[in-house]
Amino acid sequence: MDTALVILAAGMGTRMNSELPKVLHQIAGAPMLVHAMKSGTALDPSRIVVVAGHGADQVIAAARDWDDRAEIAVQDEQLGTGHAVAQAAPLLEGFSGDVFVLYGDTPFIQPETLERMQEARARHDVVILGFEAADPKRYGRLVMQGEVLEKIIEYPEATEAERAITFCNSGVVCADAATLFDLVAAIRNDNVKGEYYLTDIVALARARGLSATAVACDEAETMGVDSRAGLATAEAAFQARARATAMEDGVTLIAPETVFFAHDTVIGRDTVIEPNVVFGPEVTIESDAQIRAFSHLEGAHVSRGGVIGPYARLRPGAELAEDVKIGNFVEVKAAQIDRGAKVNHLTYIGDAVIGEDTNIGAGTITCNYDGVMKHQTRIGARAFIGSDTMLVAPVSIGDDAMTASGSVITEDVEPGALAIGRTRQVTKPGMARKLKELLRAKKAKQQAK
Ligand code: UD1
Ligand code: MG
Repeated sequence: MDTALVILAAGMGTRMNSELPKVLHQIAGAPMLVHAMKSGTALDPSRIVVVAGHGADQVIAAARDWDDRAEIAVQDEQLGTGHAVAQAAPLLEGFSGDVFVLYGDTPFIQPETLERMQEARARHDVVILGFEAADPKRYGRLVMQGEVLEKIIEYPEATEAERAITFCNSGVVCADAATLFDLVAAIRNDNVKGEYYLTDIVALARARGLSATAVACDEAETMGVDSRAGLATAEAAFQARARATAMEDGVTLIAPETVFFAHDTVIGRDTVIEPNVVFGPEVTIESDAQIRAFSHLEGAHVSRGGVIGPYARLRPGAELAEDVKIGNFVEVKAAQIDRGAKVNHLTYIGDAVIGEDTNIGAGTITCNYDGVMKHQTRIGARAFIGSDTMLVAPVSIGDDAMTASGSVITEDVEPGALAIGRTRQVTKPGMARKLKELLRAKKAKQQAK
């Protein structure tokens, strides 16, 4: 059956105190909105509608960046969750299948949880995701009769007895599109807050003889964010889970609490991550690699046997083949480095291709930028780049070639050649002593004044 996601993301997020729409604040390198979209991916949705208000342009750009099928429904005034869902109705007119309503500021709903809701939908018209709240605060309360959900009562309208209920509404709703939009159209705002409560669809459904139920998930999944402090708490929760998962997957983390993952980091078995390593988005590390302390990686691929760091920086487009070594204070960007090559110390490799078993000496720089354009450096296999070589791109160095230390290489070097690009050394006997005497005399003269 076809599935559509409707993601509510129009809330002001006033407490974030930000120019940026709330759902675009990031957790583990991805906007919260993207986390919500990712949860829904397991349902293989054919439609994704994001209901946005403030900053709708930015919101849709971020949504499309993740999935170019995302559509936007603009909710100009935030009149309540029921009103928000109603804004998606025209876009989903004629859509036959189930709709899942998710919140853009609730990033941790697990895909398996949504699948369990889908299973429950086989037996019920409306399925709500609930959770046992340790402290139910102002959540909507789920009024159950056995397996049947009779109604959701919002906190302001709840009686003392209802407020004692600890089974709460997460906000996630699933129903067939036609049923959902029919029910949503019937919601009134005659309540304490004067809002259109999406939660009213349950009582409306029951009054029409439809069935409703609630599926329970872990409270941690329903964690929402509405302040910077909440964002930090959510980040910490994400990281704790990512570290545990990595270790279950056979990755050694020497000091797990100091390693930060992105939402999409992939690490192979028996790889060792030393303390204080940060992963930005789009990093994949194969098995048996070592990421040594204080390294920062984003948009990079490290193959089996690679050793990165300590203090290394891999930037987007760093593609490292097996057994590549990247040492301390080395930055690599948009560069393919072939099997067994070593770049061990104090070096910048950008916009480059480096062949198998090549050794890049300390302090080498690919001078890739002329102030206007970027240029490529190509280095063959088994080459030896002497320490402190400046490779002024575009330039290529052939297989088995060498450059002398301190060279500024501006012309291509053919395979097997040695290139020396520096002035010849001049040594003047006794000159150092003489110079020092001269300088001392000068200083004494100045001090006498
Ligand atoms: C809602 C539920 C409550 C549930 C709680 C879980 C209703 C009436 N209440 O309450 O039962 O326990 O979530 O967190 O649904 N939004 C819009 N447009 C609007 C209003 C809200 O897009 O006009 C979005 C918000 O940006 C947010 C989500 O919907 O992502 C929930 O809105 P919020 O105001 O936080 O609802 P709660 O009062 O917390
Ligand atoms: Mg809320």
